[in-house]
Amino acid sequence: MNDSELIKLQTRCVSHEIRNHVSICEMYTEILRKNLDRDGYKNDSVENAIECIKKSLKIIGNSLIDLKAANNLSMQNCDFKNLVEEGVRLAEAYTAGKDIKITCLIKNSCIIFADTNKFLACMVNIIKNATEAIEIKGEINVIAEVKGSAAHLKISNNGKMISPEKQKEIFKEGFTTKNTGSGLGLHICKSNLEAQNAVLKLNKSTGKLTEFEIIFPVTK
Ligand SMILES: Nc1ncnc2c1ncn2[C@@H]1O[C@H](COP(=O)(O)OP(=O)(O)O)[C@@H](O)[C@H]1O
Ligand SMILES: [Mg+2]
Repeated sequence: MNDSELIKLQTRCVSHEIRNHVSICEMYTEILRKNLDRDGYKNDSVENAIECIKKSLKIIGNSLIDLKAANNLSMQNCDFKNLVEEGVRLAEAYTAGKDIKITCLIKNSCIIFADTNKFLACMVNIIKNATEAIEIKGEINVIAEVKGSAAHLKISNNGKMISPEKQKEIFKEGFTTKNTGSGLGLHICKSNLEAQNAVLKLNKSTGKLTEFEIIFPVTK
């Protein structure tokens, strides 16, 4: 086994191990919540703590998807609508602490040939960026539509705009404007999508709206 195969194997084993324990934490959080409801125990700070634990578990789960997505492509036929809905559900964990409304409109569906984990990681990354562009209150719109032989997914937000100079840089490896950013999100999303014969582009960024679009070829 060469070095890169060994790293992949270890990544899979460690992710699997973390996933198991995240599942245990999720299960016990649900049990706690049910027991408190059953006993009629009401306490805002306990309620808040349970919500925070659930959100953190979701974020750990999302990071595991990122880890899995770092491996080789694993393509399969999947329902466009189901994937988009799942991506929105996963990304909702990032709206914590802000007043952000995510609206998802799925006009129609089709089958696309895609790597599910990489597709979801990409959606989560774009929606996470959108939540970070919104200071306190804002909206994120996700619109899925099949037109002819292409499945289009538009993700937009009404947060701060990307200046025309920065628009040229955002897909470059390591480009970030955030103190704690890695600048890898969009770069990895774009190359992962291109490896799946899909496209990622920034349609526009103005003071009113920033919109990214993913385009996949329709399989059937
Ligand atoms: N929806 C968005 N609104 C405003 N700026 C964005 C948006 N998405 C990406 N950007 C800009 O693109 C840069 C690169 O994004 P990304 O590759 O995800 O790296 P990171 O989030 O670690 O900075 C961000 O630092 C930000 O300046
Ligand atoms: Mg990012």
